[in-house]
Amino acid sequence: MTLAEDRPAPSGMPAEYERRRTFAIISHPDAGKTTLTEAILLAAGAIHLAGEVRARGERRRTRSDWMKIEQARGISVTTSVMTFARDGLVFNLLDTPGHEDFSEDTYRTLTAVDSAIMVLDAARGIQSQTRKLFEVCRLRDMPIITFINKIDREALDPFALLDEIHDTLALDTTPVTWPVGMGGLFHGLYDLHANTLIAPDATGDAGPPQALSGPDDVALASKLPAERRAALADESLLAREACPPFDLQAYREGHLTPVIFGSALKKFGVAELVSAIARWAPPPRPQPAEPAPVAPGSDKVSGFVFKVQANMDKNHRDRVAFMRVCSGRFQRGMKLRQERTGRQMAVQNPIFFFARDRDLAEEAAAGDIIGIPNHGTISVGDTLSEVDALRFTGLPNFAPEILCRVRVRDAMRTKHLRKALEDLAEEGVTQVFRPRLGGDWIVGVVGPLQLDVLATRMEAEYSIEVVLEPAPYDTARWVDGPADELARFEAANRGALADDKDDRPVFMARNRWDLDRMIQDWPKLSFQSTRERATPTRERA
Ligand code: G4P
Repeated sequence: MTLAEDRPAPSGMPAEYERRRTFAIISHPDAGKTTLTEAILLAAGAIHLAGEVRARGERRRTRSDWMKIEQARGISVTTSVMTFARDGLVFNLLDTPGHEDFSEDTYRTLTAVDSAIMVLDAARGIQSQTRKLFEVCRLRDMPIITFINKIDREALDPFALLDEIHDTLALDTTPVTWPVGMGGLFHGLYDLHANTLIAPDATGDAGPPQALSGPDDVALASKLPAERRAALADESLLAREACPPFDLQAYREGHLTPVIFGSALKKFGVAELVSAIARWAPPPRPQPAEPAPVAPGSDKVSGFVFKVQANMDKNHRDRVAFMRVCSGRFQRGMKLRQERTGRQMAVQNPIFFFARDRDLAEEAAAGDIIGIPNHGTISVGDTLSEVDALRFTGLPNFAPEILCRVRVRDAMRTKHLRKALEDLAEEGVTQVFRPRLGGDWIVGVVGPLQLDVLATRMEAEYSIEVVLEPAPYDTARWVDGPADELARFEAANRGALADDKDDRPVFMARNRWDLDRMIQDWPKLSFQSTRERATPTRERA
């Protein structure tokens, strides 16, 4: 039996991993991801009171917003994992940072899920960040369910929204629910699959579904004004004619998206969304790895780390590596081999996450996320497994778009700077480059907000006040190629070279022209804008 094969389950019983649904929500900021997360947890019975996820009152803060900077700025910048059970299934919802500066972090989170919910604001349609995140999902052919939010407000025409998804994302759409009017004329939601009307209750929130024979059921006469009834009958007919019927395979292959119109705030479409995930979202999929993809049903445990976070909670001053289990049945205390170092490590205190509450995990199946407390020994991109020579692929570093020199205000703290920068680089907060010819450390980020996070955390966690100054570089590229050519290049360009945290050579380009010239002058070398994380350190030529 190899990692590429599923272990046959005992007769008649689905394997444990088949009960897992591991997914993330992607959206443009303000489309309603936080509100929808809370509504999903509520609908699934995972929390009992609205407001437990988002603290009620003055500040926007979800339970999963762990860090001070997030609370101060009212944005979510870290990844959290929420696990809940329903209908015999275990759902793992991975929260992604909504801010565009964190696309790298978000990308890594998306490598750890099997499907995604794409939230659109019904008044805005597809926005820039939605598109970027969608592209990441498409790279992995990820199945996507679309939730068109805020139909209780004035919105774009539902057909225009479906067309936009079809035309800009090249995805077929199948509406599952249909809005009965929007904004001032909003009368509820019609479930096209179940043939039910979900009308507002006395508070304006979604009431219980009422069974009907179809959108032209005479019973609707007592529930909707005549013109709404006529519009519903016409629109639902047109929607059925214009859109292909739901096709599970097309959805699972990433060609078709079921579309749920709804309102996260007023809970319309949320129960329908949860049951759509339960019914259609895929169980854990095989994961890309070398030497071969890993099947979730293989009996050997394996997983990869997609996120490391330090100091999540003042009561637990540790680092936690978030590992997606990709195969086997993980048991507490199990010994796993870290592929990067070859070391065996016993995982004594793994954690399941439900935002701030932590529970000790005794067992986890493929698709689950576990937190592994450690003291800096585990990095993003690490493969941990029971077998030798297995490495999960597909967790890249992106070339930074902003490069800054780092100086410490208090020279006494200089020697701590290295440790702090390396720690934060291991976590993936920033990338760190050490110039070959002396000089200050250089940090690279994809967006400016990452610099704020860096400065705040250096001060709060390492008592180092740093000054960040623009570095005279426009971009950085990982250089690779035949060893002798690389050695010649390194000798000729020492002043423009730095090493990344894994001692990989990086060319620091002053401008686009500089980079283009190098690409031309050294045709045998490649200048890469992404690099797979945690590949074994290059042997120096
Ligand atoms: P995000 O995480 O995607 O950034 O969005 P979030 O849920 O924070 O929602 C952004 C704003 O949109 C919030 O209003 C929220 O109440 C509102 N919203 C979310 N879903 C719906 C919906 O279905 N209908 C309507 N009408 N509004 C919705 P805010 O005023 O910015 O924040 P708050 O004062 O309500 O916290």
